[in-house]
Amino acid sequence: MVLRRRGRWVAWMVCVSPLLATSRGVGDDDFERAPIEYSKSTPDNRVSRLQAKLDDGECELSFDAERGYLPALLEALHVPVESQMLVFSKTSLQRRRISPRTPRAIYFNDDVYVGFCRAGEVLEVSAADPKLGTVFYTLEQRQADVPRLVRQTDSCLVCHSSSRTEGVPGHLARSVSVGPSGEPILSAGSAMVDYRTPIAERWGGWYVTGTHGGQKHLGNLILRGGKSPTDEQQAAAQNVTGLESRFKVGQYLAPHSDIVALMVLEHQTLMHNRLTKANFEARAALHYQAELNRALGQPADAPLDSTARRIQSAADDVVDALLFVEEAEIHDPIAGTSGFAEAFGNLGPKDASGRSFRQFDLRRRLFKYPCSYLIYSTSFDSLPDEVRQCVWQRLAAVLRGEDDSAKFSHLSAQDRMDIASIIRDTKSNLPADWP
Ligand code: HEC
Repeated sequence: MVLRRRGRWVAWMVCVSPLLATSRGVGDDDFERAPIEYSKSTPDNRVSRLQAKLDDGECELSFDAERGYLPALLEALHVPVESQMLVFSKTSLQRRRISPRTPRAIYFNDDVYVGFCRAGEVLEVSAADPKLGTVFYTLEQRQADVPRLVRQTDSCLVCHSSSRTEGVPGHLARSVSVGPSGEPILSAGSAMVDYRTPIAERWGGWYVTGTHGGQKHLGNLILRGGKSPTDEQQAAAQNVTGLESRFKVGQYLAPHSDIVALMVLEHQTLMHNRLTKANFEARAALHYQAELNRALGQPADAPLDSTARRIQSAADDVVDALLFVEEAEIHDPIAGTSGFAEAFGNLGPKDASGRSFRQFDLRRRLFKYPCSYLIYSTSFDSLPDEVRQCVWQRLAAVLRGEDDSAKFSHLSAQDRMDIASIIRDTKSNLPADWP
């Protein structure tokens, strides 16, 4: 069964090859070799731990006639329904199931992402794994005695590992122009999206619920006859707070595709990819150094310049994403519809005066204190010491004002002080000389 299904995926992958970032062969990638050995290594993350509990009978997932395992899986993984976002471009695995009338729903929390298609064969799941970066799973949408989240490698990596994901197994967010059946019209423009992408270029192929004043985006739009949208169509796609006229919203867990959830996702996907990249880069560089030293008959930890350079560069990329370097500007206030912002904003941790990195601004930028909440994640804490130290040193230099590179000019002196003090109050295992 699984084999046949894999066969089918491969078949349609060939026909959507223009969508794929690169052609990928098994074992091509650096991360398939020592020391990472991505596909061969055993994962340990929120999803693999849930599977262990299902296997031991410690936990069960109920099966819903309409939506299969989706509601139970979200609950078991603590993924909030308010995070729902709806994408109608045929840009992902179960493309035949996706259209403007049957969008794909995506849900997420800090370390798990879940994809659902109506009448889909599987739920698609990805999890942040401290050792392996992003690990992918499918859960068959058919009632079973013991539901199985099956790890997937190549069938997902064909899209989820390329220069678009920092060269490591990772997350994707795209904006593409879409025709009436959801097919991407790449000639009309497409972009990879993260927190740096101007609002005007975001959300092609996605539904977007929320208000955003005079700022325009590409969401909620379908190109008819390949033509650019008329002014009227454009206007009807902006500041949309309900999707009832567009498809049967009652068939989904929630009627929203929340604009704030989308913006948080687009920060988080890049942040996760950069953390994975830093993790892999540091381990690979240290491994190479040890091998070379062994070949040269030198002590295994004799330092190489290239090791330090690779580690520093990966750490710098992590710091840039942590501090929202080059964040897209917001001109008018933004508000969602699902309650995502309220729920997310309350999660904390908070410092003694109630401040937290999850507090939104949403008037000129996403967060009030632009430092990523993923600083509290296991992915951050599990970075190899060598690269984590570089991250802390660079962060400290920026927050003390010693590093005044132009790219950090979005951080005022007050921002830097606030961020340093929130970190001091809320983060464990800080370096001794933290500012
Ligand atoms: C044809 C390319 C393609 C394949 C194959 C693919 N995906 Fe994706 N996936 C995407 C794209 C593109 C997105 C971004 C949202 C969108 O456009 O639908 C995405 C988004 C996701 C997300 C939401 C989080 C994120 O990364 O943005 C999950 C979860 C996910 N995919 C899981 C999987 C799993 C599991 C597999 C393999 C079983 C898989 N995908 C295979 C293209 C693909």
